[in-house]
Amino acid sequence: MVTMCGITACVGREQTADDLLTGLQNLEYRGYDSAGVALQNGDGVTVCKREGEVSSLCEALSTTQAGGDIGIGHTRWSTHGPPSDANAHPHTDCTGQVAVVHNGIIENHGDLRSELTARGHKLTSETDTEVVPHLLAEYLAETDSTIAAFRKTLRRLDGSYALAVVVEGEDAVYAARAGSPLVLGIGEDSHFLSSDVPAFLEFTDRVIYLEDSDVAVVRDDGYEITDLAGDSVDRSETTVDWVPEDARKGEHDHFMHKEIHEQPTALRQAVRGRVDPDAGDVSLDEFGVDSFAGVEDVQFVACGTSYHAALYGAQLLTDRGIRATAHLASEFVVNPPPATEGTLVVGVTQSGETADTLAALRDAASRDVRTLAVTNVVSSTAARECDDALFIRAGPEIGVAATKTFSSQVVTLACLGTLLSESITDRKGRAEEDNLYTALHALPDAVDTILGQTATPNVARRFRESESHFFIGRHTAHAVALEGALKLKEISYEHAEGFPAGELKHGPLALVTERTPVFAIATGRNDEKLRSNVEEVRARSAPVIAVASPESPVADVADEVLAIPETHPDLAGILANVQLQLYSYHVAALLDRPIDKPRNLAKSVTVE
Ligand code: F6R
Repeated sequence: MVTMCGITACVGREQTADDLLTGLQNLEYRGYDSAGVALQNGDGVTVCKREGEVSSLCEALSTTQAGGDIGIGHTRWSTHGPPSDANAHPHTDCTGQVAVVHNGIIENHGDLRSELTARGHKLTSETDTEVVPHLLAEYLAETDSTIAAFRKTLRRLDGSYALAVVVEGEDAVYAARAGSPLVLGIGEDSHFLSSDVPAFLEFTDRVIYLEDSDVAVVRDDGYEITDLAGDSVDRSETTVDWVPEDARKGEHDHFMHKEIHEQPTALRQAVRGRVDPDAGDVSLDEFGVDSFAGVEDVQFVACGTSYHAALYGAQLLTDRGIRATAHLASEFVVNPPPATEGTLVVGVTQSGETADTLAALRDAASRDVRTLAVTNVVSSTAARECDDALFIRAGPEIGVAATKTFSSQVVTLACLGTLLSESITDRKGRAEEDNLYTALHALPDAVDTILGQTATPNVARRFRESESHFFIGRHTAHAVALEGALKLKEISYEHAEGFPAGELKHGPLALVTERTPVFAIATGRNDEKLRSNVEEVRARSAPVIAVASPESPVADVADEVLAIPETHPDLAGILANVQLQLYSYHVAALLDRPIDKPRNLAKSVTVE
């Protein structure tokens, strides 16, 4: 069984169970099939775990007396095998003296399971993780040193892991990382471990990002970090610039709603110090003037929403005379396009942890192709492994459906495109002539206008019962059409498809009826051609919703208009996408869907 999950731990807190639950709630975007905690006090280790969301675990814990000032917790997303109480973490050894939470995959768990069973161990779950506490318990019996037994256990594991372990009678949490994220939080007289910072952001903003092969022993009054051989390693402490409110919904019913409304701020952050409309200049701290000398073609790799941002970005680069293509990361790995010395492979990934995208970037690196990560998470694997990293500065995104990060990715790629075009094509000024820089600065206000005046609640009421939804657009609006359809599917569970507008007549038109609303996304480029496509669907009685400037010819022929303020055509797709995010949100709310935790999904997909 393969899992990708959220783990957390704390040492030295008075309300350990409550603090672990807070952490797990803030990590639920990583999975919500089951959850559990293990608490350690003078009487031993107590485990409580439940199938379902963290709220089920909260209920279960409220009826137990579990206490202790050392604890570990887990929230799980399973890729195969049913979510169940037995498969939930923490897992324990035969005597219950060791409890383990794990994110990753123990690839040799089959062999280890056979070995342990042959020696009399009774394993009670179907998980790969359960071999870890049993192995550790065996090694503990052979030595007085818990850390030595823990290292010996780690040396037996193939695959990837972030592990946190409590052991009866010990005043520490033992932790290790190999290929799965793990962060240490440093508080006053207390310490935390987690897959991601939001888990303990309420308590501290001082962090250490652990690296692969790090082994940590964490106590209330300090921590030690060593490598697998036991040699001390030095990891620097940093302060994250996120605030506890980033991990809370505040006045919003859902994180998705909050994050849609954070887009003006996120967009301001994305361009701050990078775009100067007065000087007509784009500069990125991460890169100098000659950073891209020699680059001849750009291959984007990404998944899901990030792929749509990459497709949008590839279009912007192509417009600037750069050879650019966008690839689904999972396909890139099985069918990599030819690369030359001048190829730059750009991984677009919010989390920087998506396994498919990492695999594509590693494939490129193995062929000596230069790599660049465009990501939201400074400490992410993609940022660390690529030759260069460019940050989108959107702040934490917790809703499973990506919203603000799409907008920030596109704006960041627009800046990158300008820089690349100056370097590759030696052509300065195109963007300046087109007032792109001014438009970039005005974009947050334009998003605010949409958020204040959107007609999406009414349009959602009108079309929520439709047989299917279609989204069409040309050029950058094609990427937005795909993204609009993905968002609707993901959070409302309604069927939706996005198409390049010109393709509709080559097949999908057969599906168009009066029960299939068609959203036509107009950017101000190719609007006349799009209007012709709209006429084609209107002739088949489909209701048309223009996502367009009210001045657009597409708006004239639509049944409804989701208005976008006038802007540069390169950026109109971002505004249209905000309307589509709101439409999906309102449809999902009317249908009473679990918007922040859609079924079967998790935010950070760390398995291929
Ligand atoms: C959709 C969504 C996913 C992610 C995809 C890639 O709303 O969130 O499609 O975009 O899993 O994730 P990152 O960007 O973290 O690589």
